[in-house]
Amino acid sequence: LATTEVDISKIQPGQGIKTTWRKQPIFIRNLMPKEIAEANAVPLSELRDPQTLAERTKPGKQNWLITLGVCTHLGCVPLGIGEGENRGPFGGYFCPCHGSAYDTAARIRQGPAPKNLVVPEYKFTSPTTVQIG
Ligand code: FES
Repeated sequence: LATTEVDISKIQPGQGIKTTWRKQPIFIRNLMPKEIAEANAVPLSELRDPQTLAERTKPGKQNWLITLGVCTHLGCVPLGIGEGENRGPFGGYFCPCHGSAYDTAARIRQGPAPKNLVVPEYKFTSPTTVQIG
């Protein structure tokens, strides 16, 4: 399938879901205001792959962080979605393979991965539905 539709109505702030698109894991996270503020407080000069949260989300929907669930080092699936999962030292995602840590905007902050988690093509087809691809 070229595109996939995802119902995001049940994802509470602070939670996320995993889905798949073109056989790749996709993470959809509903960021809490605190997580948005944390991401926006980081100076771009501290980032290995400098991007703002606004550049990684849609206008007016900074709480919806949608990325591939594929570590940009060697492609493991990072931890961080689901109750009690390890989000790592920067509060976003943590790749257990070689210790890459991503922040609340899924930007690389520590470890060997060179790039932020990739934001796929997507659009909101309703306030509670996202079409990926
Ligand atoms: Fe994620 Fe190496 S594959 S840190």
